[in-house]
Amino acid sequence: MIYRTVIRPLLFGIDPEVSHEVALTLLGGGGAVWSRLPGPGRDSLLETTVCGIRFPSPVGLAGGFDKSARALWAWPALGFGFVEVGTVTARPQPGNPRPRVFRLPEDEALINRLGFNSPGAEAVAERLAGMRQRRYPIPLAVNIGRSRAVDNEAAPEDYASSLDRLHAFADFLVINLSSPNTPGLRHLQMRAAAVPLLDRLAARNRALGEKPLFVKVAPDLTEEELEEIVSALDGRAHGLVAANTTVRRDGLRSAARDEAGGVSGRPLRDLATQVIRILRRLTRGSIPIIGVGGIFTAEDAYEKIKAGAALVELYTGFVYGGPCTPRRIAGRLRALLARDGFQSLPQAVGVEAR
Ligand SMILES: Cc1cc2nc3c(=O)[nH]c(=O)nc-3n(C[C@H](O)[C@H](O)[C@H](O)COP(=O)(O)O)c2cc1C
Repeated sequence: MIYRTVIRPLLFGIDPEVSHEVALTLLGGGGAVWSRLPGPGRDSLLETTVCGIRFPSPVGLAGGFDKSARALWAWPALGFGFVEVGTVTARPQPGNPRPRVFRLPEDEALINRLGFNSPGAEAVAERLAGMRQRRYPIPLAVNIGRSRAVDNEAAPEDYASSLDRLHAFADFLVINLSSPNTPGLRHLQMRAAAVPLLDRLAARNRALGEKPLFVKVAPDLTEEELEEIVSALDGRAHGLVAANTTVRRDGLRSAARDEAGGVSGRPLRDLATQVIRILRRLTRGSIPIIGVGGIFTAEDAYEKIKAGAALVELYTGFVYGGPCTPRRIAGRLRALLARDGFQSLPQAVGVEAR
């Protein structure tokens, strides 16, 4: 309540990227305090194991919020069940010129064209190395993307260099092939490009000690294109993250609706759920899916789980809902699972995939 009536109006009164900076600085500053607070706690109905990793809650922080691992201790303290750091690029790069993040309040959405602003894999690895000397209470994923200066031909080399540097600090990795803000990146989702890239990363992953590799896809792919990416996974990667931001602009009302970039939040919700449903069908439930896109409430999360998501993540719903959002969603999700007679979360995954 205080977030919506006092803090959000203050944060929403300044430039979105500046307010994100302020929030990250505040959340990152209290590292010592945060790390003493309890994490999401144990709950037999919410905890789940995916790819052999135990998640205390299925509600995670999506890629892009803490791109360079600046506020890691805040995430378990706020009740997130896991966190995706990144996208990290192999080389340091500034991203696109500002302004590059826009609020669409009437649509409960954001548009961003950040373009992978990243201090680079080396800097993020150093930060994670310092932090990982202490036990981190929730699973941590590192999301990697292609450096802008590199073309798709050289992408395998570029991703592999990030994987080499960051592998040791991650419980699992997310290969981002779907940001709309790095020219040509999404072509890497086509089978002809995805297979050599994933072959290379799978080989490095085996050499470094195999960890789960997830591939993050766009919500704008046709069913045939989703089939291509699923077939490219075939033993090379272990899971999917669906979905990234959309380039669609249907039905938006806010002033910033025509800004270039990817749309996240409410307008993406049903599109992302539909992609999860298709992926669940194509994979016959054999590959875990992390569902993301337009989750603001437990009902939104539950819908994605029933469509086939083994875990869920949010970004825009956290911006609009504030710091209590992960605990609020997890608590109500628990009640929804209990109401419907599920004894554990995995029982609900994919029950409405058809
Ligand atoms: C400002 C902003 C930055 C983002 N940066 C990244 C990123 O670096 N890597 C990534 O994989 N996804 C990124 N995303 C996409 C989110 O992880 C997520 O897939 C998308 O926003 C849909 O979820 P949401 O509706 O809960 O925001 C970003 C989203 C926003 C709004």
